[in-house]
Amino acid sequence: MCHSCAYNLQGLRFTILNLLLLCSCTLILLPGFFEITPLLTRVIGLRDAFHDLDNHCQSAKPITASEFHDRQRRLAETLLDLNASAYIAEPGASAQYFGNISTASWKLSERPLLLIITPHLVNDSQVEAKVSILTPHFEATRAKLLPVPSEDVNYIEWREEENPYEVAASVLPMRKTVYLDDSARLFISSGFQQALQHAQVSPSPSEIREIRQRKSNAEIELLKCANEATLLAIRAVHKRMYIGMKESVASGMMSMALQTAGLEGGSCLTLFGENAALPHGSGSDRALGKNDFALFDCVGSLHGYHSDVTRTVALYQTKVPPEHRAIWGDVHFAQTVASRVALAGTITQDVDAAARSFLDLTGRGSYFTHRLGHGIGLETHEEPYLRGGSLDIIQTGHTFSNEPGIYIEGKVGVRLEDCFYIDSSGQSIFLTEGVGGQALSPWDP
Ligand SMILES: *[C@@H]1O[C@H](CO)[C@@H](O)[C@H](O)[C@H]1NC(C)=O
Ligand SMILES: *[C@@H]1O[C@H](CO)[C@@H](O)[C@H](O)[C@H]1NC(C)=O
Ligand SMILES: *[C@@H]1O[C@H](CO)[C@@H](O)[C@H](O)[C@H]1NC(C)=O
Repeated sequence: MCHSCAYNLQGLRFTILNLLLLCSCTLILLPGFFEITPLLTRVIGLRDAFHDLDNHCQSAKPITASEFHDRQRRLAETLLDLNASAYIAEPGASAQYFGNISTASWKLSERPLLLIITPHLVNDSQVEAKVSILTPHFEATRAKLLPVPSEDVNYIEWREEENPYEVAASVLPMRKTVYLDDSARLFISSGFQQALQHAQVSPSPSEIREIRQRKSNAEIELLKCANEATLLAIRAVHKRMYIGMKESVASGMMSMALQTAGLEGGSCLTLFGENAALPHGSGSDRALGKNDFALFDCVGSLHGYHSDVTRTVALYQTKVPPEHRAIWGDVHFAQTVASRVALAGTITQDVDAAARSFLDLTGRGSYFTHRLGHGIGLETHEEPYLRGGSLDIIQTGHTFSNEPGIYIEGKVGVRLEDCFYIDSSGQSIFLTEGVGGQALSPWDP
C-alpha cells in the first residue's frame, strides 16, 4: 500500500469515527431515539437471527440442458401436428422456458431479438427442433453469448437497413401458420403479418401454451423450495415483530429474510390494520397497533421460478377483535374448501366458485372482491387462472395460487395464500406442504 493511501485511509477512519459520534449524539437528542434504538439493535441482529433460513434451497438445481431439449422437441412435435412452420417469442417467460432467454439476459428494445423454433422431420417417426436467434447484426457477438441450451443454434443477423421480419421469413419452412408468443409486442406481430403475406400469423394455441403451463418434476421442486423458503421467512419475521413497528420496518426485515433464504428479488406487500383492506396497499406507513392484524404478501424467485405466499398474522400480545378472528377463520376455511375441490379434471371457475360460495354462506361473500388464484411458474402470475368465467380444465402439473380474502374498507383485511400443484394422481398438494402448508392460526402462520 502506498504511503499517501495509508494516510488517506487514516483520514477516512477519523471521518467515519466523527460521523458515528455525531450520529449517536444526534440520535440521543432526537425525540425518536427510543424508537430507533430497538430498531438498530434488531437490524444488526437480523442477519444472525435469520441464519436458520440460510440455504434452505441450497440443493435446488436449475433446469438442465436436457430438459430444455425435451421442451424444444415437444414444441417441435406440436408445431408439426398443427401444420405450423414456426414458434416465435421475444425475450420473456416463454423464451426463457424454451430457450433460456429472459428479459434479464436480454432487455427488450425497439430492435427485435427473437427466439425462433422450427420443426424438422428426421425420418417418419422423429421430429427435431431447430433453434434460431434473430439478432441485430451489430449485436450478434452479444447474442451469441446468450446461454441458449441447444447444440446447434442458428444465428440470423439483420442489418439496420433491412426488414428484420423479411430476413426471418427467409429461414422459415413453407407451411401455413406461424405462431407468435402471446406476450410479443404489436409491432413484432404486424411486422411478421406484412412480411409473411402467404402465411397466417397467430397467437399460440392452447396446445402450445399447455406445454409451459404443465410443470415437470424439476420445476415443481424449484417452486416448492421457493415457496417453502418464503413461508419460513414470514415465520422468522413474525417472531421478531413488535407493537408500534412501522410497515416499512417489517417490510425491510422481510426483504432481508427472503434474501438470506436464498431467493432473488424477494419483497413483501406489508399492510397493518385497516390498510390491509386495500388488497394492493394504501401507500401510508402505518405503525402496528395493539388490535391489528399484519398482512404479508411475499414473492421471490429461485432459478427463475417464483413464490407467492400471503399470511395474515397477529402477535401474542395482540388483542384481536372477535369479529376479525372470525373472518380469519372463514378465509382459512375457504382456502381449505378450494384445495379439496381443485383436482385434475375440475374446471378452473368451479374452484373459485367453491371458495366463494362458502364465504357467501358466512354473509361476507361480497367482501371477497378478487379472483381466487392464478397460475405460477416463470411468472408470478400466469395462465391458467382460478376465476369466475375461466373454463380451463385442471391437469396434472398445473400450479396455482389459492388466495381467498375478505376486505372491509376502513376496518380489516385478511388474505391467506398458499400455492399448490396437481400431482401425478390428480390431487392438489400445497407447494408449502414441506414446511407445514396452510397457516394454523393468526399466531401460528
Ligand atoms: C440458463 O441461463 C442461466 C443464466 O441466465 C445460466 O446460468 C444457466 O446455466 C443456463 N442454463 C443452461 C441449461 O444452459
Ligand atoms: C396439414 O397440411 C397437410 C397438407 O399440407 C394436410 O393434408 C393436412 O390435413 C393438414 N393438417 C392439419 C391439421 O391442418
Ligand atoms: C429415426 O431416427 C432416429 C434417430 O436418428 C432413430 O433412432 C430411429 O430409429 C429412426 N426411425 C426410423 C423409423 O427410421
